[in-house]
Amino acid sequence: MPAPKTIIVSNRLPVRIEKDGDSLTYKPSEGGLATALGSIYKDGDNIWVGWPGASFESDALKAEVTEGLKKESMRPVFLTDDELDKFYLGFCNQTLWPAFHYFLQYIDYTQENWESYVAVNQKFAEAIAEYTNEGDTLWVHDYQLLLLPAMLRKKFPKISIGFFQHIPFPSYEVFRILPWRRELLEGMLGADYLGFHTYDDMRHFLSSAHRLAGYPYSGNQIQLEDRTVVADPLPMGIDYDKYADNAVHPESIEREERYRKSLGPQRLMLSMDRLDYSKGIPRRLQAFDELLERYPEYREKVSLLLIVVPSRDQVPNYQALKEQVDELVGKINSKYGRMSWVPIHYFYRSYPFTALGAFYRMCDVAVITPVRDGMNLVCKEYVASREKQDGVLILSEMAGAAKELSDAILVNPTDENQVVEAMHRALQMPVEEQKQHMATMQATVRKYNIFSWVELFFENLERVKRLQVSMRTVALSAEKRSELVNSFQSAKKRLLLLDYDGTLVNFHNDPQACAPDEALLKDLSALAKHPKNEVVVISGRKHETLGKWLGSIPVHLVAEHGVWSREAGKGWEKNIDADAEGWHAEAGEIMNFYVDRTPGTFVETKSNSLVWHYRKAEKGLGEMRKSELTSQLKHMLGERGFQVLDGDHVIELKPEGINKGRSAKLWQDAANAEFTLCLGDDTTDEDMFKSLPKTAFTVKVGPGTSHARFGIDGVKDVRDLLSLLVDK
Ligand code: UDP
Ligand code: G6P
Repeated sequence: MPAPKTIIVSNRLPVRIEKDGDSLTYKPSEGGLATALGSIYKDGDNIWVGWPGASFESDALKAEVTEGLKKESMRPVFLTDDELDKFYLGFCNQTLWPAFHYFLQYIDYTQENWESYVAVNQKFAEAIAEYTNEGDTLWVHDYQLLLLPAMLRKKFPKISIGFFQHIPFPSYEVFRILPWRRELLEGMLGADYLGFHTYDDMRHFLSSAHRLAGYPYSGNQIQLEDRTVVADPLPMGIDYDKYADNAVHPESIEREERYRKSLGPQRLMLSMDRLDYSKGIPRRLQAFDELLERYPEYREKVSLLLIVVPSRDQVPNYQALKEQVDELVGKINSKYGRMSWVPIHYFYRSYPFTALGAFYRMCDVAVITPVRDGMNLVCKEYVASREKQDGVLILSEMAGAAKELSDAILVNPTDENQVVEAMHRALQMPVEEQKQHMATMQATVRKYNIFSWVELFFENLERVKRLQVSMRTVALSAEKRSELVNSFQSAKKRLLLLDYDGTLVNFHNDPQACAPDEALLKDLSALAKHPKNEVVVISGRKHETLGKWLGSIPVHLVAEHGVWSREAGKGWEKNIDADAEGWHAEAGEIMNFYVDRTPGTFVETKSNSLVWHYRKAEKGLGEMRKSELTSQLKHMLGERGFQVLDGDHVIELKPEGINKGRSAKLWQDAANAEFTLCLGDDTTDEDMFKSLPKTAFTVKVGPGTSHARFGIDGVKDVRDLLSLLVDK
């Protein structure tokens, strides 16, 4: 078995290969993803799989590229011109990119592009499969490959798959616009662990998964049928030392001196991005224009160094943006320029690393004002490069980095007046104040660097895998079922602990409409009459209801999670004596307040508990109110000996110490049974599963992970199983 390795997968490899006649040149790729992970992928046998940045037709050329990349631990996925057109320029950059950056007017809905997106993701899956062994870890990156995690999961059901989203995840209201929203979500959910730059991105993803695909979630865990998936905010950092060292590298210093000679002594403000409408370049230029208009004292004293890195220049919206930027720069330079001073030094090209070092050194202010950006690394690189801790960062609130860099001057990029005043403030800021802010930002960028990001990502992914193992139930297959029946038959004493709703009968919007049918009563009765059996129905329902529905057959009953119990043929016994009056009234008032605000919810009053039902409430709203209500009830009841139980679309408030687990254990101890079968479907049944001995046949009904040993699909299978046990 080969040593386990990590396979990093992204659309773009960290190198871009250019064809120059017959020869090939390898250049570093631009963009946050490639520059950030470029430092770490070569450890051990790790490899990086992706597109090499150009199209290669001949097999000989492809072989040459493959060989060249192999030496650098990379494996290519070649894309045809048609795929580049429909998948890359089309679906990735004219559908997903604008949608995820809230440029709804730019979204292209071409079905053919979607089909190409599916096909290319599949192509990646096939390529990766060639290099993958079961023990490996797969780490998929970004919006170009949203379907890939599920495709890989299909090939490798147990493998660890992580996914990281480098661009924003839009709010549910925007995401749901996409015709292929469900497929995209299902694709992402093939991963075990999904990282996002910000809490909001994660929240938007969870909300979409819940509202569009119906998966329940609690905290940041999503419950799929077969797995628990975790989503997490994990802001990406940079290789701090690499940038700090680069800033003092002799070549960067030499470049700075050279550039200075031709630029003159004016102060410089830096603007550096890929050409992209999400970066807010035109608005930034307009603000600079207004700065020179409003504060003429900056003319001939301050220049903007405008670096625009070519990107996706075959997409019409990018071409239009290029023209707009060219025009604005021309307008501003011709309006204010002097023989001795150029307001904007504009360069449309990419630069070598030490040139970036020189730019970061030279500029007193960095103006980074994207209208929307997943993270933005340029601002972090600027911070890391400020050797003397001076310099001011103006940063858009709409960049993920703003969540970490609160010491920057934060601006709303569409508020031109605010951006102009921020520029003015930055240019006026005393050095001492600059240093204070810069030192704080440097500490943050240094601590949350790329290495700790990678480490945390893998740690979290491993933790999710462990969680999945601990929560895995084994399907009650035909073989296991006959094992169960055999041990039932050979036992002298047998105990059956059965939950009611969701286990013996299906849920219904009206809790009163779940009365047992004839067939169920017949089977339960037959089982209960058998001298070797004790059959106990353990439910959260009111004792009056259970009595009415099941009182005529010889089963034992436990109601309200254990507040009441009744041995077959005897009367009800109350197991606690809480003061119903006081807390009922108080808690009832709070619950009713939530009913008033949440259509579709209602309160059910039991003798020793109160239940708030939200099954019929609007999806999402019910869950939100549930969290509010839970914390309010916990606060209200404080130390008063009550607990708030989280059930299936209900929360139940009841005295502490009463739960199904306690009742199950009491019956288990009393019955002294050699065989125990316990069936239940929701979180309150987990207490039973946990309280029983390991030898018991604990069976979780329905999808989801559980403490039970076995899993079964639904009520129908429960009924079939019970029928099998009748007369045995
Ligand atoms: N960058 C580059 N060459 C250049 C200018 C910039 O490689 O000529 C790098 C820059 O250092 C940064 C990345 O491109 O690491 C841009 O990442 P960011 O997250 O700011 O934006 P993205 O391009 O990912 O939207
Ligand atoms: C952003 C995206 C990356 C992408 C990069 C450059 O950083 O998050 O996935 O690689 O932009 O874009 P490009 O289209 O040239 O790959």
